[in-house]
Amino acid sequence: MPLEIVRNDITKMKVDAIVNAANESLLGGGGVDGAIHRAAGSGLLAECRTLGGCKTGKAKITGGYNVPAKYVIHTVGPIYNDGKHGEKALLESCYRESLALAKEHQCETVAFPLISSGVYGYPKDQALKVAIDVISDFLLENEMTVYIVIFDKAAYKISEKLISDIAEYIDDNYVDEHTDYSRERIRMNALPPMAPRTRKKKSDIDSFKMCDCKAMLAEDDLDAKLKQIDESFSQMLLRKIDEKGMTDAECYKKANIDRKLFSKIRSDVHYKPSKPTALAFAISLELSLAETEDMLRKAGFALSHSNKFDIIIEYFISKGNYNIFEINEALFAFDQSLLGA
Ligand code: APR
Repeated sequence: MPLEIVRNDITKMKVDAIVNAANESLLGGGGVDGAIHRAAGSGLLAECRTLGGCKTGKAKITGGYNVPAKYVIHTVGPIYNDGKHGEKALLESCYRESLALAKEHQCETVAFPLISSGVYGYPKDQALKVAIDVISDFLLENEMTVYIVIFDKAAYKISEKLISDIAEYIDDNYVDEHTDYSRERIRMNALPPMAPRTRKKKSDIDSFKMCDCKAMLAEDDLDAKLKQIDESFSQMLLRKIDEKGMTDAECYKKANIDRKLFSKIRSDVHYKPSKPTALAFAISLELSLAETEDMLRKAGFALSHSNKFDIIIEYFISKGNYNIFEINEALFAFDQSLLGA
């Protein structure tokens, strides 16, 4: 999965580069800056001393010393004032400059803390959104795996409104697997009866004849539909990519799936993906709920109302929000696994 949100201590991440939320002196401090310097040891400070500081929004790279990462990329986030003093642009620049340095040093994996969201006071949900937007743009053009490392859950905030909307949707739809289905049936039976089927009037019968003819004409459409019933997941995926006028790369990048997995699916007509992978493609293709269910069925799965993960996906599809990074933010907030490989 090219962009992952994980709970961890960044100093423990086994990646090519970790990013430090430093200050302009680059001589250490508190928060993640302090944690990285403590873990890396005095060699890191000694090298930082040779760099002559770093401007806000810029980034500089050093060795990793005693941390598992090969490099530490030091970037200086903006101190948040009121959001009207160019803070967002500076924070975006921190991520962009750090990613550029990582790419320059052939890093395949990079881990970011939520820059400026601690001592520098950047509102956490906005800081997360900036991080996700800049990183996902970068990943559309570059092959890299990027981690956003959340140290403590309190540091992780997506908009309260989104959280309450989703929580409400879960309440409305979540059917606990222990639900007393007979009680559920009685409740359903209490609903007004379905309108009885009416006998067809003469005019209806004529129009039915018309429909009948149309049906004949649409036979090839019917054939196409029948063909789709027994197509595999992989065949449906490739058909949908063509129908949507997407390239393979656009589809798997938007699905937050790496190229290797996509080529496995493309080359094996009977490939059975995991449920998060199948759903990631449904989101990338912006399928309707019915098409999503159909695609899931071809992978051997179904959406279930006794599964919060499924209900959250259904929530976003029902809202027409197919931004997989926003969906993953929400899944992470509800302690669910993320979409993608
Ligand atoms: N691993 C991952 N994330 C961490 C860790 C850790 N070990 N420790 C802290 N964080 C998180 C915080 O929870 C916060 O979400 O890093 C994020 C950034 O917080 P700060 O470290 O306070 O960085 P920032 O807000 O950018 O302020 C930078 O603080 O430490 C000083 O020298 C630093 O002056 C600079 C300022």
